Amino acid sequence: MCGIIGYIGKEKKPLQFIVKGLESLEYRGYDSAGAACIDPKGNLFIKKVKGRVKLLEDLIKKTPQKTNLGIAHTRWATHGEPTVINAHPHVNADNDIAVVHNGIIENHFTLKNELIKKGYSFVSQTDTEVIPHLIEEELKHSLTYQEAFNNAVKKLEGSFSLVVIFKNDPKKRIYAAKMDSPLVVGILKEGFYIASDISSMVQHTKNVIYLKEKQIFISDGISVNIYDLDGNEVHVKPEKITWNVEKAEKKGFETFMLKEIHEQPEILKKIARMRLKNKKIIFEELSLSKAYLKRVKRIYLTACGTAYHACFLGKYYIEEFTGIPAEVILSSEFRYTRPKLGKDKLVICISQSGETADTLASIREAKKYGSKVLSLCNVVGSTIARESEGVIYTHAGIEIGVASTKAYTSQVMTIFLLALYLSEIRGEDKDLNKNLIFKEIRAVGDKISQVFDNVKEIKKGAKKYFSYQGAFYLGRHFNYPTALEGALKNKEISYMHAEGYAAGEMKHGPIALIDNNFLVFCIATKGQVYEKMISNIQEVHARKGLIISLATQGDEKVKRISDTVIYMPYIVEELSPIINIIAFQLMAYYIAQNKGCDIDKPRNLAKSVTVE
Ligand code: F6R
Repeated sequence: MCGIIGYIGKEKKPLQFIVKGLESLEYRGYDSAGAACIDPKGNLFIKKVKGRVKLLEDLIKKTPQKTNLGIAHTRWATHGEPTVINAHPHVNADNDIAVVHNGIIENHFTLKNELIKKGYSFVSQTDTEVIPHLIEEELKHSLTYQEAFNNAVKKLEGSFSLVVIFKNDPKKRIYAAKMDSPLVVGILKEGFYIASDISSMVQHTKNVIYLKEKQIFISDGISVNIYDLDGNEVHVKPEKITWNVEKAEKKGFETFMLKEIHEQPEILKKIARMRLKNKKIIFEELSLSKAYLKRVKRIYLTACGTAYHACFLGKYYIEEFTGIPAEVILSSEFRYTRPKLGKDKLVICISQSGETADTLASIREAKKYGSKVLSLCNVVGSTIARESEGVIYTHAGIEIGVASTKAYTSQVMTIFLLALYLSEIRGEDKDLNKNLIFKEIRAVGDKISQVFDNVKEIKKGAKKYFSYQGAFYLGRHFNYPTALEGALKNKEISYMHAEGYAAGEMKHGPIALIDNNFLVFCIATKGQVYEKMISNIQEVHARKGLIISLATQGDEKVKRISDTVIYMPYIVEELSPIINIIAFQLMAYYIAQNKGCDIDKPRNLAKSVTVE
């Protein structure tokens, strides 16, 4: 997820003007930034920095002033590390086309290879760099810049948005395209603004046009024209917005956490699109060889906190789909448990930030004893990603809320896909119903949205139960980690004492706490352990505990023995943890809201834990 801005108009210092706006897009990512304009002599002027927008602001203090247009970008790395070379804008070899881009060009490998064959050379590791070269190639066969731009956009696959300027365009216009990634036009007094979202423009205008999918925007600074991909003009009406700057950054949600919870359908759809191609699972960035992965005899999974819960699911998935034994170890305990490391033992570590000190220490320990490390990270180029022999990115986009939500579900989906991939390359997938599994993976995004449709029930429950002192979260098998994660979400943002247990463990001690003042969240969605969960719920019911159950749509049995039921859409049980945790994220959220907690910044916590 990156932030992009384009501007055309009569501002005296357009570059400074848009780079200022870029600051409010930093919530979308800030590992590097860059800007470009056409200088008074007609040349492309470009500046880029590694780091935050503030550094870019300092760098462009003395920039060309008499220019009518500019573009700018703040990056959240997806392809290639955060470096100046990988920072946007990206240009063609003649330095006359500059592009800023947000999203992923899924066919960039194919396009890059075709362009290399035609003599184009590449300097960055990004997917973006194919765009200026592709436009240059299209210009050779097109009558106008608009036609070349359109043709290039049509050849790009994925969900993305981009803004482009041309040094030699006689009409001196700015071009943009929206393909499934947000792009909004701001109508100013003397000019136009186009950006990833309205947060960068609310202080200048309240009149905006939300571009729709597959629309092209072109402006000469006096008027705006919007076209479909076939070049037909589309007439759109500007809208008036009422948001202030703070609300705009959060896309209208009251907190980053709520925004991030709601981003999950799109992220899970994106992961499915990226990873499933022609009945195969694709991890194009994975540098560990298939030959090595076939030889692996044991897998250790390690992480902290929420990522540790994703590891737990990883163990279940790996053991379900492959013949490899898998073990989960908390990173802070890794070196004390003395795992039997060595060449044929793979260590998988999961980390959103890629900077967690304990996880990093485990990687170093594993490497010291000859194991290879494969990390699943969200932050591209992070220390953990750099120090691991293999890395797979989870593509959740920047996560600002301290309590992890979208990072978790993207980790779970990615480790699920990795387990399937291992079974595929090791020839252990013969008995799997791949058609069904792929169908269900693709359906996850929409099923998460169905949980949002049920938010009224969740809010009602939160209002009823927020003042209780303690809660258990009970689940079995694939939803045991969901119980652990549900409890963690609740305690970290609402400060309610909450513990996750494997439901079968209740009888061995914890059940002593149950009375009519104790909340028990039970996961009883359909699957192999359903009947066993019903028995566990009955045990709690008999002791007058207050039961809040997650059940599959239409289940009457659970309803009879629960105080509150939150209905979930059906999905194969392996993927149910991704759907079920959404209800618990929302429940924790609204419990915390009822208690008046500072949800984005819970007490005593930090987003990245870089000390052991
Ligand atoms: C909880 C949470 C933490 C992190 C943990 C690991 O909501 O965010 O428990 O999961 O600190 O962090 P990463 O994934 O960055 O290694």
